[in-house]
Amino acid sequence: MARMYTGKSKIIARYRSYHGSTAGSIAATGDPRRWAMEPGGKGPGILFAPEVHCYKCPIKHTYPGCGIACADYIEHMIRNESDVAAVLVEPIVGTNGVIVPPEEYMPKLRKICDEFGVLLIADEVMTGWGRTGEWFAMNHWGVVPDILVTAKGITSAYVPLGLCATSEKIAEYFQDHYFAHGHTYEAHPLTLAPAVATIREMQRLGLVERARELAPYVEGKLRELKAKHASIGDVRGKGLFWAVDLVKDQTTKEPFNTYSDKVSGKPLLVDQIAAKILADGVTIQAWVSHFVIAPPLIVTKEQIDHGISVLDKHLGLADAAVGQ
Ligand SMILES: Cc1ncc(COP(=O)(O)O)c(C=O)c1O
Repeated sequence: MARMYTGKSKIIARYRSYHGSTAGSIAATGDPRRWAMEPGGKGPGILFAPEVHCYKCPIKHTYPGCGIACADYIEHMIRNESDVAAVLVEPIVGTNGVIVPPEEYMPKLRKICDEFGVLLIADEVMTGWGRTGEWFAMNHWGVVPDILVTAKGITSAYVPLGLCATSEKIAEYFQDHYFAHGHTYEAHPLTLAPAVATIREMQRLGLVERARELAPYVEGKLRELKAKHASIGDVRGKGLFWAVDLVKDQTTKEPFNTYSDKVSGKPLLVDQIAAKILADGVTIQAWVSHFVIAPPLIVTKEQIDHGISVLDKHLGLADAAVGQ
């Protein structure tokens, strides 16, 4: 859509990202899940920018003195590449570390995109539907993307449904321009009805507000955990979407495992810990050298306490490996 609408060809995504596993979306994925499909080079027209990640800045800057240099980098790319149709971002990076950008990042990116006639695409597959304490994460910064894609929480995951929304201007364009990307089961009523039911139920139970209100509680618990464990380098998140980042050394921030370890099939410390946590009846997502914590929005404080206490119990495995 972005290519047709702008008449331009290139898409800028970021390295720490996951956008899906179709040919197009894996090509735009920055993380190693892309590597195996691209012996011949990157997906056509896809370029990768450094992500915004203040805890481990890929271009070695320090916030706030940096003036959001990672957004300036994207501007530099747009100027020098020309022909850029869109910038594609997860507003809060999901699997790759629940990376919350500083307040200025998204408004700055929006401004850069507007200046150069580049569309801003928000991948809210993970961050949508109240997960971060707003209906969509972009709302935190008052930024309206041109295209928004979402899935998962849209039906509370009871039935599979993905959705692509556009601004009215882009939607109008496609009234007169043939968009040949339909699917057999597109807009299937059996998937749309649960989406409507989910939205009504979320409104009835006030789940977006609930995610926002529980955030300080989860944050407090995770900060207590960090104070206790030498293996925790960082805890970060928004709403009911958090990461616990494990490091061998809190000063150097060296992770226990790398993306290359993951791809090569090496046993990862976070997976060993996650298996122990699962054996105690709690599910947690482990990825490379961090955990993603994303409980259901109906979670109670007692359940949060329980989940974090089980994580606490098994982090000894990582603490023992600190400095090795
Ligand atoms: C941020 C993000 N974008 C896109 C996708 C792909 O969604 P799907 O698997 O529904 O195609 C995922 C799936 O995990 C995701 O987390």
